[in-house]
Parts: sequence; C-alpha cells; structure tokens
Amino acid sequence: MSHINQSTVKKITAPHIRARKGGSPIIALTAYDYPSARLVDEAGFDFILVGDSLAQTVLGYDSTLPVTLDEMIAATRAVRRGVSRALIVGDMPFGSYSGRSERAVRAAVRFVKEGGAEAVKMEGGARVAHIVKAIVEAEVPVMGHIGLTPQSLLRMGGYRVQGKSLEAARELIEDALALERAGAFAVVLEGIPSEISRLITARLAIPTIGIGAGTGCDGQILVFTDLIGLTFGHLAKFVRQYADVKAVIADALKRFADDVSAGRFPADEESYHLPEGVVVEINEEQSEAMPPLGPIN
Ligand code: KIV
Repeated sequence: MSHINQSTVKKITAPHIRARKGGSPIIALTAYDYPSARLVDEAGFDFILVGDSLAQTVLGYDSTLPVTLDEMIAATRAVRRGVSRALIVGDMPFGSYSGRSERAVRAAVRFVKEGGAEAVKMEGGARVAHIVKAIVEAEVPVMGHIGLTPQSLLRMGGYRVQGKSLEAARELIEDALALERAGAFAVVLEGIPSEISRLITARLAIPTIGIGAGTGCDGQILVFTDLIGLTFGHLAKFVRQYADVKAVIADALKRFADDVSAGRFPADEESYHLPEGVVVEINEEQSEAMPPLGPIN
C-alpha cells in the first residue's frame, strides 16, 4: 500500500506508480503528440504511454511492426512538451530490444536523453527478463507488457486473446513473476481473461495495468484515439468509446468547405483592413496606373 499522499504529488514518477499497488486505480492513456499529451495530462491521468500503437493510430500502418525508434523518440519529445505532471513512458518499438541487451539499453537511454521519457515499456515475459534487468541497472525504469503483445503478430498469426488454456495461463503467471524479479515497476496485461489478471494481480507486488484484461487489475489503460472515437476500422471488444471526435471533425470540415463554396467564408469580421486614409490614396494611385479602357463593342 502507498505511503505517498498522491493528491499532493506534483510530478508522478515510476516509484509513485509502483507505490499505488493495491491503492486507488492507476489511470493511464496513450498519447502521441503535444495536443493529445496536454489534454491527457490536464485531465489528471497518472501516466502517459507513448505507445507504438502510434504506427497504426497516427502513421496509418496496419500493425505496430514498422514504426522506428527515431519516430518513437520524436513523438515522445512532442508529448514531453505537453506534460507537466503525468509519468511519461516510451514504448520500445519492435526490433529495438532483440538480440544483445547493450542495444536495448542504448535504445532505452535514447528515450530518456532525447525523448524526455521517464520510463520505457517492453513487450515479453521471461524471454526478455534479462533485458529488463539490464535496462533497470542502467537506471531506466521499465514497465513490462504480457498477454496479447502486438509485436508478436507474426508469431501469433493474428491478434488473439492469450492465456486461455491451463498451460498458457501458467506461463503468463510465470512471465509476470519473471518481470517483477527483473525489476519492472509495473506490468501491462493485454488481451487475457479476467480470471488470470486477477491471479497475476494478487501474486505480484507491483501494479498491473489492464487493457482488455477485465476487472481486477491495479489500473487501466486505453488507446487515446479509441477512447475519443478517432480510430478507423475495427474496435476491439474491450474498448469503450467516450466521444465521437471523428464525426465532430467530419462535420467541421464539411461546414468549412460549404461556407467557402457559398462565399460565406471569410466574413468581413475575419478580414484585415487598411486604415481609411491609405485606402483612399491607394485607390487613387491604382486607378491612375490602370491602362485606359479600349472601345467597347
Ligand atoms: O502501444 C500501445 O498503445 C500499447 C498499449 C495498448 C498498452 O502498448
């Protein structure tokens, strides 16, 4: 249980999130740029994940696999400029932490130095525990992510709920424990049955953050564009859409185009004007410079 009075916290850190285990629910969202980050921070969210979902939500790819480390760091930098209170977590993209852990540490340090992130998130359980440990030893807090890990798309052959068999459920619990032992300060549980989330949450001393993981986690995260209704295509069952921003934008665009077509935009109040004396002078000067009109047939 937390001994920190969270309401007086001016800047949320990884230890603050860690200390929320079993306390009030941790509230999180993704953000990818300055305006989304500002809105999420001003709404009082605890942490902002600059998710590699950026690949799909903003860059228009059909999976998270193509987004690069440079693109993720540029987005993190923009988010950084919009945030004063929430913890900023940078999402390590596909390929940036495979192979040698030195490479992963370098990528994590870039998130901090160049992006202004205060933690990084990585997908994978026991398989990546040694990398989590190396990054934590390099003084960068790490959030784990297990269950339906979108970077495993090629291996999984599609996005499917994970941990449904006894063996798979046991493996997920072992993965979560391995991440905790490696020094992760929290773990995202994605696309797994509620019952497994509850078991993992009870077994871990660090908080669990659910997305499509049902009830019983220590916190919840959603994707910004899903929550506000700015997503094109299929929405997962676990998404609750709180606004229809796509419709609001489409309506604004149509009304602008209609106003321009009909000559209603811009109005006189939306135009700049010359001072009165200058108007008279410029009109006289220009009328003198005009070529004489030819004969009218
Ligand atoms: O990239 C992302 O948006 C994520 C969340 C789904 C947790 O990893």
